Amino acid sequence: MGIIRGAGLGLREPHIEEILDHLPPVPWFEVLADNYLGIGGRPRDRLFEIRAHYPVVFHSVGMNLGSVDPLDEDYLDRLLELRAELQPEWISDHFCWTAARGRHHHDLLPLPCTEEVIAHLCERVSRVQDRLGERMLLENASAYVAFRDSECSEWEFVREVAERADCFLLLDINNIYVNSYNFGFDPREYLEAIPRERVKQIHLAGFSDERTHLIDTHGADVSADVWRLYRDSVELLGAVPACVERDSNIPAFDVIFDEARRAQQVMLEETGGAS
Ligand SMILES: [Fe+2]
Repeated sequence: MGIIRGAGLGLREPHIEEILDHLPPVPWFEVLADNYLGIGGRPRDRLFEIRAHYPVVFHSVGMNLGSVDPLDEDYLDRLLELRAELQPEWISDHFCWTAARGRHHHDLLPLPCTEEVIAHLCERVSRVQDRLGERMLLENASAYVAFRDSECSEWEFVREVAERADCFLLLDINNIYVNSYNFGFDPREYLEAIPRERVKQIHLAGFSDERTHLIDTHGADVSADVWRLYRDSVELLGAVPACVERDSNIPAFDVIFDEARRAQQVMLEETGGAS
């Protein structure tokens, strides 16, 4: 996994032309695999062109790991087909559920932190990892409701699943910050509880401030508080490959490339260049 290093970017359609024209020195891109499953023609061709110039990782939103619906084997087949063609360094999905009884909600919905859910997630992650033939990454999601049934903190839940399913983690620093604000916990305590050797990737993104709560919109610049928490994460976890995500109000390419360069700078300052 050594070729994914430093600060990359989430690949977004409005930037692809510019990237292919100028080949900016982005160390790697994260590809939203779901956008390319079963898709042919020009979008797919351009993705292959990107891949010819850059290493990539896959990010997936369709595994529906927390649901009690059967695992979608057809979805996994299509993901494996795309993986065979593009050779990403790894594949990630989320601690969440996205569909129930076959109905898709197009959102990353939260899970109660209970022993029952931990066991359920671990079993499904293990089955997916068997299909992939490798360990996957699971990402912590943002949330706006908590469950009375929860038996442990979110960070204990995340750590327990990672250890028992023997998977890696994609730690979203913005999501930790958003949840710490919405539910009133210390985000540094979350970071300190995460096993360093499990974290293979970091996400950075922006939120919208609704005063009573924060919403993880991916539609704004990374906030000053999230930059501070990111610096804490580098201090605690080392220079884990990080990528900036933007999904709405998508600015010019240089704006998010500047954020990636800032993340790279934080890595350098906190680790002296070690990774
Ligand atoms: Fe994320």
